[in-house]
Amino acid sequence: MTSGHASSKPARSAMMPQRGTRSPSRAIPPRSGYAADDPNTIPGFRMFALDEAARRHSEAGRDVILLTLGKSDLPLHPEIVAAITRAVSDPDRSSLVFPGGLPELREALSARYSALAGQTISPSRILIDAGTSSLYPNLLRILGAAGHEVVIPKPYYPLYRVAASLVGASVAYYNIDLRTMSIDVDSVRDAITTATRVLVVNSPGNPLGNVVPQDDMVAILRLLPADAFILFDEIYENALFSNESPLAPMLLHGSASASSRVVITNSFSKGYRMYTKRVGWCVLPQSQSEAMLSVLQHTRLTVDPSVQYGAVEALRREDEVRSLRTIHEARWKHAVAAFSPLSSVRLLPSAGGFYCTLDCTEFARFNGLASDSALALDILYRTGVATVPGEDFGLPGMLRLSFTSSRFEEAVDRLRDYFGGNATGAIDGHIGARKGAVP
Ligand SMILES: Cc1ncc(COP(=O)(O)O)c(C=O)c1O
Repeated sequence: MTSGHASSKPARSAMMPQRGTRSPSRAIPPRSGYAADDPNTIPGFRMFALDEAARRHSEAGRDVILLTLGKSDLPLHPEIVAAITRAVSDPDRSSLVFPGGLPELREALSARYSALAGQTISPSRILIDAGTSSLYPNLLRILGAAGHEVVIPKPYYPLYRVAASLVGASVAYYNIDLRTMSIDVDSVRDAITTATRVLVVNSPGNPLGNVVPQDDMVAILRLLPADAFILFDEIYENALFSNESPLAPMLLHGSASASSRVVITNSFSKGYRMYTKRVGWCVLPQSQSEAMLSVLQHTRLTVDPSVQYGAVEALRREDEVRSLRTIHEARWKHAVAAFSPLSSVRLLPSAGGFYCTLDCTEFARFNGLASDSALALDILYRTGVATVPGEDFGLPGMLRLSFTSSRFEEAVDRLRDYFGGNATGAIDGHIGARKGAVP
């Protein structure tokens, strides 16, 4: 861990996107050492492209296993379904409109964070949206990032880049070291300038399943300029394999200056398995909650109250969350056992969350596969397993595997055979970029 002080480094003005034009700034290499990003282009999510290719492949009669979306294929607990159904069939409840979220849900989340932080976290600081995805551009805007700079991890969940782009902020990166799976705190220091308004931390991380320890968070808070915010994405906090202490308590309870500069985001999509129900939330400093509520009044109006009643019920079902974690850990162990003997690929260590990452760089190069999308398609057509190209996350040469399929082990065995040279599948109808032979 490295310590330091808030940066007074001047803004990277040359990197700022120019409104309405294709910015020449994209030619300037980011200091993180990764390929330059065009702030004006929103790339498609390759995860959905692979999901779609898999659907077509399945319709053509192939047996396909999806390791794409972080969406559990286990059914919802019947009590959660019942809570939603009861609300749907009750016109008084199903027609409620609360732009900031159902009061019962905000109260329940307030009780949960208050217990964690050991101090009252008022429901007025907690706002509900249709998942966290739609919160990000709005949060960046109210936190003052528009026209300034957002610092995000690399690898990243792509939402952070897209949200920054949507509000006209430029993006700088800090690194997660792929050997230690820790934040390179020096790269955080390098990324921060006087233009930095928001720094995103994601723990446990997507795609790596890395965990940010408290010491690193303290170091980051020290480096943060006084007028900047941390956006802490804890969406996988209940999916860790170990009993690592959550960071939310220190972020909410820390010194007044720290807690007033942190926004936490979380969701019912992952551990609570309510992906398609679209319920997420943020915990804001009191100073920002009014502004965010106004934004939701104009841009959201309401999240379906019926699914919010389901979310209240889900909060009473922590046993469900725990059992999902146990299932995912068993799947992770299976992946370790399957891939460890192979020399053609390397499984990056995951401490939890919904995913693990397979480094296929050497394999793809050796087999003349032009990109990890080409590799993912080759795998899909030969083995029937759909994976996510690492390019989505700034991890070229890698594939992300989601633990969420109940056929995960079978899928991993097929991948092991593919990378170990025992794949038997045909490339039906596949127009891939593959030039060489898969061993
Ligand atoms: C790290 C991370 N943050 C945010 C999200 C957005 O989730 P949702 O919109 O379902 O809350 C996801 C979804 O996969 C994610 O992986």
